[in-house]
Amino acid sequence: MPHTSGLPRLFLSPPHMGGNEQHYIQAAFDANYIAPLGANVTDFEKRVACYTQSPHAVALSCGTAAIHLALILLGVKAGDPVLASSFTFIGSVSPIIHLGAEPIFIDADTNSWNLDPALLEEALHDRQQRALPMPRVLILTHLYGQPANVDALAAVCQRYGVTIIEDAAESLGATWRGRHTGTLGTFGILSFNGNKIITTSGGGMLLTPSAEYAKQALYLATQARQNTPHYEHTDVGYNYRMSNIVAGIGCGQMEVLAERVARKRDIFTLYQTLLADIECVHFMPELPHACGNRWLTTITVDHPAITPETLRLYLEAQNIESRPLWKPMHLQPVFRGAQAYTQGVSEKLFATGLCLPSGTAMSDSDIERVATLVRHCIERV
Ligand SMILES: Cc1ncc(COP(=O)(O)O)c(C=O)c1O
Repeated sequence: MPHTSGLPRLFLSPPHMGGNEQHYIQAAFDANYIAPLGANVTDFEKRVACYTQSPHAVALSCGTAAIHLALILLGVKAGDPVLASSFTFIGSVSPIIHLGAEPIFIDADTNSWNLDPALLEEALHDRQQRALPMPRVLILTHLYGQPANVDALAAVCQRYGVTIIEDAAESLGATWRGRHTGTLGTFGILSFNGNKIITTSGGGMLLTPSAEYAKQALYLATQARQNTPHYEHTDVGYNYRMSNIVAGIGCGQMEVLAERVARKRDIFTLYQTLLADIECVHFMPELPHACGNRWLTTITVDHPAITPETLRLYLEAQNIESRPLWKPMHLQPVFRGAQAYTQGVSEKLFATGLCLPSGTAMSDSDIERVATLVRHCIERV
C-alpha cells in the first residue's frame, strides 16, 4: 500500500542508542578482543546483575538460548511435559521442542494478559486426577513488559513442585513488589533483540540466584570445554556465548536503561490520555503490585466493525508500523495437537489487539500523530 503521509516512518520499537556504545566497541577493537569473551562481556554482565539485583548473570547469544540452557539445567528431557504461557512469542517455547519435550500451554487472564494462576492450578489438578505425567517446569512470560501475577503463580507452583523459568525477554526494568522480573524464579532470561527496550542488535542473558547453575550455564554455553590446556570434552555443549563487540553495545545501553523505562511508561500514559474518551479502546492492564516497563503500548478495540487489521492498514498507509498482538501458541499450526488449557482470553486478545509504535526516541508529537490516526480510523466507522 502506498504511503500518503510523506512523513518519516514510525517503527514499532526501533533501537535507540545512548551515545556511548561505540566507545565500548572501540575499546574491544583497541584490545583486539574481538571474541566471545573480554572486558565488555564481564562489564555488561555486572551492570545487568547490579541493575536487576540478580546474584548471577551469564551473557548469551540470544534469549532463546538462555531458555534452552535453563531447561537443560533443570533436567528437562525428551518426552517431559513443560508448562508455558500460551500468549507469548515462539522463542519462549521453541527450546521445549528442541529438547523433544512436550509443551502444555496455559491461557492468559484478563487482569494481566499473562498466565492465569487459577487455570494453572486447574491444569495441574486435572493432570494429577488423571494420573498424567506431572510437569516440573513452567516457562512464565511477562508479556509486553508487564509482570504476571507472580505471587499467585509461585504459590501454585510451590504446591505442585514446579520450578519457574521467568521469560523476562520483554520486561527488563519491570518489577513485581519492587523486585525485578527475571530474578523471581530459579532462572530468568532477558533478550537484547533489536526491538527490545535496550538492544545489543541480538543477544540474551540468563539470570539465576545459584552460583552453581551460573557456572554450569557458562560451561554449556562455551562448548562444554573442560579446564585443560587442550580441548577435552565429557559433555556436548553449545556455542551460545555473547561476543565482546555485542556486549559493548550492551554496556552503552545500560547507561540509559532507567531513562528508557521512564520514557516507555510516559509513552503509554500519553496514549492512554489521548484516547481516554474512546469507549471501545482498552489498554493492557497492570496488576496492583506490578510496575511494567511498558515495552510496547498495546490496546484492544472492542468494536464489531473494526479489526486490528483495519487499524494496522490505516496506520501503515500513513507510514506507521503497528502489529497485531502475539498469536497464542495453542492456535499456531506448528503446535496443533499440543496440550492446552484455554478459556478464550488470549484468542480474544489476538482477535482485537494491536501494538502501537512505542519507540523511546519518538516525540510527544509523534505519539499525538498516531493517536489522532487511531481516533480517525475508529470514528470513521
Ligand atoms: C517473550 C519472548 N520470549 C523470548 C524471546 C526470544 O529472545 P531472542 O530473540 O533474544 O532469542 C523474545 C524475543 O525475541 C520474546 O519476546
